[in-house]
Amino acid sequence: MERKTISFSTSCILACIWILIRAVRGDLSYTFPEETKQQYVIGNIAKDLGLDVKRLSARKARIEAEGSTKRYCDINLSSANLVVVETIDREKLCGTKMSCLLNYELVLENPLDVHRISLHIQDINDNAPRFPKSRITFNMMESAVKGERFPLDEAHDSDIGQNAVQGYSLERNDHFVLSVKENAEGGKYAELVLDKELDREQTKEIDLIFTATDGGTPQRSGTALIHINVLDANDNTPVFSQSVYKVTLAENAPLGAEVVTVSATDADEGVNGEVSYEFSRISDTAAKLFSIDKTTGQITAIGNIDYEEEKSYEIRVQAIDGSGLASTAKIIIDITDVNDNAPRIILKSLNDPIPENSVLGTEVAIINIQDNDSGDNRKVKCSIQENVPFRLNPSIKNYFSLVTTSLLDREIESDYNITITATDGGSPPLSSSMIIHLSVSDINDNPPVFEQQSYTAYVVENNQPGTSISSVTAKDPDWRQNGTVLYSLLPSEINGVPVSSFLSINSDTGVIHAVRSFDYEKFRNFKVQVVARDNGSPPLSSNVTVSVFISDENDNSPQILYPAPEGKSLMTEMVPKAALSGSLLSKVIAVDADSGQNAWLSYHIVKSTDPGLFTIGLHSGEIRAQRDITESDSMKQNLVISVKDNGQPPLSATCSVYLLISDNLAEVPELKDMTFEESNSKLTFYLIIALVSVSTFFLTFIILILAVRFCHRRKPRLLFDGAVAIPSAYLPPNYAEVEGAGTLRTSYNYDTYLTTGSRTSDFKFITSYNDSTLTAGGTLKMAQNDTLATNLITLNNTGEGDEVRKMCLLSVAGSYERLFVVMIFCDDFL
Ligand SMILES: *[C@@H]1O[C@H](CO)[C@@H](O)[C@H](O)[C@H]1NC(C)=O
Ligand SMILES: *[C@@H]1O[C@H](CO)[C@@H](O)[C@H](O)[C@H]1NC(C)=O
Ligand SMILES: *[C@@H]1O[C@H](CO)[C@@H](O)[C@H](O)[C@H]1NC(C)=O
Repeated sequence: MERKTISFSTSCILACIWILIRAVRGDLSYTFPEETKQQYVIGNIAKDLGLDVKRLSARKARIEAEGSTKRYCDINLSSANLVVVETIDREKLCGTKMSCLLNYELVLENPLDVHRISLHIQDINDNAPRFPKSRITFNMMESAVKGERFPLDEAHDSDIGQNAVQGYSLERNDHFVLSVKENAEGGKYAELVLDKELDREQTKEIDLIFTATDGGTPQRSGTALIHINVLDANDNTPVFSQSVYKVTLAENAPLGAEVVTVSATDADEGVNGEVSYEFSRISDTAAKLFSIDKTTGQITAIGNIDYEEEKSYEIRVQAIDGSGLASTAKIIIDITDVNDNAPRIILKSLNDPIPENSVLGTEVAIINIQDNDSGDNRKVKCSIQENVPFRLNPSIKNYFSLVTTSLLDREIESDYNITITATDGGSPPLSSSMIIHLSVSDINDNPPVFEQQSYTAYVVENNQPGTSISSVTAKDPDWRQNGTVLYSLLPSEINGVPVSSFLSINSDTGVIHAVRSFDYEKFRNFKVQVVARDNGSPPLSSNVTVSVFISDENDNSPQILYPAPEGKSLMTEMVPKAALSGSLLSKVIAVDADSGQNAWLSYHIVKSTDPGLFTIGLHSGEIRAQRDITESDSMKQNLVISVKDNGQPPLSATCSVYLLISDNLAEVPELKDMTFEESNSKLTFYLIIALVSVSTFFLTFIILILAVRFCHRRKPRLLFDGAVAIPSAYLPPNYAEVEGAGTLRTSYNYDTYLTTGSRTSDFKFITSYNDSTLTAGGTLKMAQNDTLATNLITLNNTGEGDEVRKMCLLSVAGSYERLFVVMIFCDDFL
């Protein structure tokens, strides 16, 4: 500054010297500042030129401008002052020229005198520095490095020298400093220097006031606004909201279900801040199940998620901004179990069929239950239907054994459908079931059982050999051969004859056939045992009794015992001459080997000498006088009697009865006529021998009895009352009644035989016939000892008071098939 002042003063001195020289020569020079007002006195010409003021006007003093130069000053003629007539703007007149000189001429007349006047215009600081643009805009990358320079526009000041721009200043800020430099023309300019890095994410724009100052007094300044746009550099990576996303997802999530939405932000802007998402690391299986939306970051399920396949997935997601900066986050998807698997029942082994004799607790099947779910969803309960004799025994690890709880019987239940149900513990629980079909195999545990406890067969005698008489059926509930029944007869004997010669049985059907023709008169019934045997191994059998009853057929004609058959009779009945009407004269005795109706005999007189004289009791066979016998009646009377049974058709026999009406045997002249036929003599001989021997015994016996009687009781009422037994064997055995079956009662049989139809007869029986009936063993039993037995049947004829007639019946039984009856008439026996 001091230097400047010195130089200024130096130039002033030089100017003064120059002016003085000029003055010498008659030229004038003035220096004055610009922008002076009008009438500003620059100098006094008269004084400076040594001229008389009064003379100036006379001399017509005037200022002449050189060329076209505008006249800024003029002479005040009265005062001879040179004054400014128009304000001078140095900047307009001279611009940036350092010296600004105006040249004029002072012209005087009378005498003409011309003086040069030079006007030096001095600069004043009347202009402030100005920037070309009031707003300077920078687009600056945030990535700009420290020290980077940004040239700024130079400010301009119309003034010159010290008054021109001398310096710049910048508003205080964090990032920039100013560096001022001088260019070749000496002008000063500034550069913006980055002192600290920019961060767009912190400050997007910076406004700074930039000031230029000049060196004048007073100092002037001009400002401009520096506007800095911080441009984004991709300096930020996207940032996830969480580094790890942990989510749970229930299995079987529907397709498209949202799993999680990740989000990452990028502080950068524009493309640099545009984040897109993608999976960066994902397993192949997960890749099929999940997808991510590129823009929203939403992860959705796109496949069937199954807990049983994978319980957890770990996925990495990458967020990438527009220029490729990326960051990753981890996503852990835990799959939760849903009870979506029903338990599975697996039959591991099965003992099918199971024998019916299996002991209690026999293991039938082994079952394994599996459930793919986990936790409670996996806990399985196993149950079995109620009504079967089986139980599930839990074993280790979901293994169950199916065992029997009671004994099985194939014949009651041959197969079982066992339903096993498994239910898991889920909510809602799932269950499944399985039907085990189990069959029970047969054991030969049932013997054949006959449908009836005993069988009865009736067969009419004289049957055809081979006719079926009955059939037995036995059932065996066992299976196949164990239940196949074969029938057979149990070997036994009937009267010493093997049963097989009587009957045969069809072993398959159980039909019983007669092997031979039966004769009721030989035996009436017998029993056989039929065995039913199954085909098992070992076989089981049972037996049943078959009672065979032979029923009677009228195949025997009545057999007349007394009198002997026609033409053979030796015997003649004596009829007292005084016989009254109704008195019993004789009796026809006949038997019939048949039984029942077939043996119910009726008697008829077929022919008689004197038809009105005699009658015969229809069923008793008693011949009685129909009227009193008179002297005129023929002494010899002949009756032909027919004996007929009641069978269908009836059979009959006839006999002749000779009656001799006489009181004395001697009176009978024709007695000798009544001889046997020669052919009968032999039989008669035997009969007589038998008769004699029996009567001897009998008489002895009678006498003994009588003696005993007389000793005890004087009253000989009935002979042999209760004393003589009639052994059963004496009677034809085929008169016995049918045991238990009761076709005819014993008494009936008996009556028929003994013609008890007689009103006046009184029979006494000591023993029953039962002894000769078929025994339970089915064989005909003989009389206890096959000895000769004697029977006496006393016919106590009470019809006639004076006449005691005794008919003694003696019989000799040699075998049960033969019967000899001998009638003895004992006239006046006692
Ligand atoms: C078991 O099931 C089978 C077939 O479903 C059927 O034929 C049979 O009768 C059933 N048995 C029982 C004892 O229910
Ligand atoms: C018959 O029973 C036996 C055991 O008693 C048994 O072994 C056999 O298998 C059974 N037969 C059939 C056909 O069931
Ligand atoms: C017949 O059956 C009975 C019982 O039912 C038995 O005691 C008897 O031994 C059987 N007889 C034969 C020969 O099998």
